[in-house]
Parts: sequence; structure tokens; C-alpha cells
Amino acid sequence: MHINSDAMCWMNGEIMAASEASVSVFDHGLLYGDGVFEGIRFYHGAPFRLLAHLKRLQDSARAIALTLPLELELIAEAVEQTIHAFPEADGYLRLVVTRGVGTLGINPENCAAPTMFIIADHLTMISQEKRLQGVKTIIAATRRLSPDGLDPRIKSLNYLNHILARMESNHAGADEALLLNAQGFVAEGTADNVFIVRDDVLITPPLSDGALAGITRATVMEVATTLGIKARELSVAPYDLYTADECFLTGTGAELIPVSSIDGRTVPGCPGPVFEQIGLGFHALVERECRGRQV
Ligand SMILES: Cc1ncc(COP(=O)(O)O)c(C=O)c1O
Repeated sequence: MHINSDAMCWMNGEIMAASEASVSVFDHGLLYGDGVFEGIRFYHGAPFRLLAHLKRLQDSARAIALTLPLELELIAEAVEQTIHAFPEADGYLRLVVTRGVGTLGINPENCAAPTMFIIADHLTMISQEKRLQGVKTIIAATRRLSPDGLDPRIKSLNYLNHILARMESNHAGADEALLLNAQGFVAEGTADNVFIVRDDVLITPPLSDGALAGITRATVMEVATTLGIKARELSVAPYDLYTADECFLTGTGAELIPVSSIDGRTVPGCPGPVFEQIGLGFHALVERECRGRQV
């Protein structure tokens, strides 16, 4: 396993090489997945939609009764310091807040104070070739956790069911897995939201079907409106995926990735005209928002 030697980390107010940063074996983030996180891209030295990410972090933390160790403005400053310390202007941040160091038992009351760290690194989810040609997907047998177990809007450190789904796609020789909710409707990918296009209408599952409120998802909806493309939140059944004109994935890590097949059914438009238009609009918006706004 190769760790990028340029990767940097903010921890307890200090910037260090990520390879030097560590957390305790008694940290409940590690022992129980008790914590929340954000993945944030920066372009031209400026974080994309930082406020939306910090707001989601705050909501995730509130939902699990975790007090963030710093006010949001100070977290924003820590983000800026971390970006500054990274030698390149484009990269990816992983901001993690855990319940902190505690006793071995599960009780969160025994954790002294939250642990927070921010890693700056590169993130390459897929090869450039696949980004252009599209990714093969499967519908996983592993279901998205239902809200009565763990609300999917909480961006928590519990990703085991997504990892199991991703293992299914690895096993099937595919690149990504799509998860259904308990009712059999499409929720999302393992670390991304899903869109389809049918008769020139852009469709994505509503959050109530088990999707994370993706910031890229929201940006894509915004871009669609600006371009005059009809966009709707509608439940998506496997049939709708199999018969879609286009399908693509969105996420901070993924950005926008076209899907070439789903369970062996070829998606005819890959990349399709709506994807191409949205992609251009998305990247233009990123340039507008981040260029010249270096921290
Ligand atoms: C489960 C899941 N769904 C969707 C997304 C996409 O969200 P965003 O666009 O905010 O990165 C992510 C990535 O953070 C994710 O982990």
C-alpha cells in the first residue's frame, strides 16, 4: 500500500505530514464507527462549497449528539490551513470528527473529548479512461440501511454495508455497486448519488429513498435548472435503471462519472448528451467559484 508522502494532516491545531498523524486505539471512531465526516474537493487552492459541507457536518454531528470541537468558522480556518500546507492547488480533504478517546465499552459518555483531523491528499477514484468510457455497475444484494436503523442523511463513519456492496461489484468484475432501499427502490451508489435520463428529463431518487444529500447532487440539479434541463426527484426502480437513456454518478470524489452498464444491460447514451451538457456546466461552475478565490 502506497501512502502519498505529500499528504498533510491538521490535528489538534497542528499541521503535520499525514504519515506522522495517528489516533488512539481507544478512539470510538475506530472502535465503533462513532463519528462523522466530510469529503471536500479543492480546486485552485479553494474548497468547493465549503459552507454546504460544514453545514452537513454540523447536521450529522447534531443528529448523533456529538459536539463539534470547534465553531464552524474555526473549522473553516483549519480547512484553509490544511489546503495551504498541501503542495498542490487541487486535491481532496477528508474532515473527520469522532466521539474521541474513551473506555473499551460502547457508552459514548465515557469519551473525554471529540477527536478531529483533516487530511489533504489526492483522490483518484477511477482511471481517466473509465471516466471517459463509463463505468460498469451492478445492483448490489446488500441494501442501504433504512432510516429506522441509521438515517442515511447522517454522513457517519459506518460504511460497512457500502463496503460489502462494493465487494459485490469487485467480485462481479464491475466498477461500482448501486444500493436499493428496503422497498427495492434505488438509493445511491457506495459513495455517490445516481442520476438517470429518460426522454430528456433528468431524474434522481429523492432523499427519502435513502440517498445522502450529496453536495454534487444538489449542484447538478442547480446546473440542470440553469441549462433549462428538466430535473425531477422521483423514485427509481431497477427497471428504470435498465431502460434509462443515460445514467451517471455524482460525488465529491467521483465528480461526474457516466455509467456504461447496469447488471450487464448496456446504457445507450454513455456519455450521453445530457451528461455532456451537465458536465460542462458543472466544471464551468467549479471554475467560476474556485478560481481566483485561493485561501
Ligand atoms: C454514501 C454517499 N452518497 C453520496 C455521496 C456524494 O455526496 P457529495 O456529492 O456531497 O460528495 C457520498 C460522498 O460523500 C457518499 O458517501
